[in-house]
Amino acid sequence: PLRVGVLISGRGSNLQALLDACAAPDFPAEIALVLSNKADAYGLERAASAGVPTAVVSHRDFPGDKRAFEEAMDARLRAAGVELVCLAGFMRLLSPWFVDTWRDRLINIHPSLLPSFKGLDTHGRALAAGVRFHGCTVHYVRPEMDEGPIIAQAAVPVLPGDDAHTLADRVLESEHRIYPQAVRLIAEGRTRVEGDRVLLSGDMPALPALI
Ligand code: GAR
Repeated sequence: PLRVGVLISGRGSNLQALLDACAAPDFPAEIALVLSNKADAYGLERAASAGVPTAVVSHRDFPGDKRAFEEAMDARLRAAGVELVCLAGFMRLLSPWFVDTWRDRLINIHPSLLPSFKGLDTHGRALAAGVRFHGCTVHYVRPEMDEGPIIAQAAVPVLPGDDAHTLADRVLESEHRIYPQAVRLIAEGRTRVEGDRVLLSGDMPALPALI
């Protein structure tokens, strides 16, 4: 199985979705390491409960030295034999050095239909913009925040009466579905980055068009 490292900063519900997927005997990936930049991230408990190794590399231990922080993370990932890095609610912007070191082996989940609503507070901004559909995206990471070739997306409706919380909950459910799907696609060798896009090959899983 493909050895996956998951980077988190907090709650870790997407990590949980990946842990659950990897628990299935036919899933083509396994989680080799969960790495958090925060010692109190709840996701670390989720990993421990699943018997998955964890590590904490705190950015606060490297004040003003992002490169040293990222080299420490890189060293942990390599020591664990990680082949694919999944950002799952990891809230530090990675430098071009780290992103290029892991180029096309580093993916992120973002709570919007990219390229709309990059950055934070995606749900509040989607409501303010009056969009009728919102959703989530799994993409290969590039140095520019929330940019990179798209692997999977799911759309959800924006419903009358939604606030940022109800909308976030609906999007989060779709995140938990597509993140494992995206990892499966990569683990099965069915993604190829060509320029700005991902080309998919082979039998397609039912890719989510959720309405
Ligand atoms: C998720 O909604 C994820 O898409 C988002 O943070 C949440 C983490 O939740 N990521 C970003 O906003 C990245 N900038 P989780 O810790 O329960 O997976």
